[in-house]
Amino acid sequence: MMPLSFREAFEAQADRVTDKWDSYLDIYDKAFVAYRDREVSLLEIGIQNGGSLEVHARYFPNHKLIIGCDIHPRCGALSFPGNDKIKVVVGDANAAETRATITALSADFDIIIDDGSHKSNDIILSFLYFFPKLKPGGIFVIEDLHASYWQAYDGGLFHSSSAMGFLKDLVDLPNLEHWGFAMTPQEYLAARHPKYAPVISACDLSGIYSVQFFNSVCVIEKHLTDPVASLGQRRIRGTRAEVWPGALQMDGTGSIPPDQSNSRWSRPG
Ligand SMILES: C[S@@+](CC[C@H](N)C(=O)[O-])C[C@H]1O[C@@H](n2cnc3c(N)ncnc32)[C@H](O)[C@@H]1O
Repeated sequence: MMPLSFREAFEAQADRVTDKWDSYLDIYDKAFVAYRDREVSLLEIGIQNGGSLEVHARYFPNHKLIIGCDIHPRCGALSFPGNDKIKVVVGDANAAETRATITALSADFDIIIDDGSHKSNDIILSFLYFFPKLKPGGIFVIEDLHASYWQAYDGGLFHSSSAMGFLKDLVDLPNLEHWGFAMTPQEYLAARHPKYAPVISACDLSGIYSVQFFNSVCVIEKHLTDPVASLGQRRIRGTRAEVWPGALQMDGTGSIPPDQSNSRWSRPG
């Protein structure tokens, strides 16, 4: 069978309802295409009528396991005859009991999608609880981030601990080796978001490779092999360096940041 684009898999959905904004379909395709033929383990937080689980099953024909989690009790009645690789867990995704049920079904995931309450508090906690469950090379998608600009969803444009405020700070983590002073990712994020400090301190944040923002969507990719997603060595090729001959000496060297420990900007506030 010809592989489907995410849009095609979505358009083919005829039974249970799924609800996505049009622009997400292409963003999903770009983010997921490398995984399309693999035996993926996928977790979706927030499934409502359950149709998105069938779309994922269609898009990833070799899926190993697709778990949908939803707080709504009626989701417990959702069934997927003919596909015993789709499982539904009912409960608040961030509650310890629900998390334990999910991780008992699968210890880790290739893809995690947060389409739950869209409240900043829930989004941040779900990221901190579930990012460590993402396999190396895995993709974490958070959608409907427009709610992050709205007060009723614990958000607002100048709210530094809105979901967007928090996610923007993740961009600093792959650049840790350039900070120029000793600080862990946990210390940094806890300083920026003290409300979440206990959860942050327990969170393994290693391997954040990229953080991409689209309209209302954030896609975070975990590095396949490198837990610090390092810059690597400098690569110089060519032999003629008339403007700066020093370049010829730089091949194979590493990046050494200037010491920033006394900088006023190495402290919050
Ligand atoms: C936008 S709908 C999901 C739509 C679905 N993903 C789709 O594509 O059709 C959001 C769902 O998140 C669920 N939800 C809200 N808070 C949640 C929480 N804390 N944990 C799990 N699910 C939650 C709601 O019950 C609702 O069904």
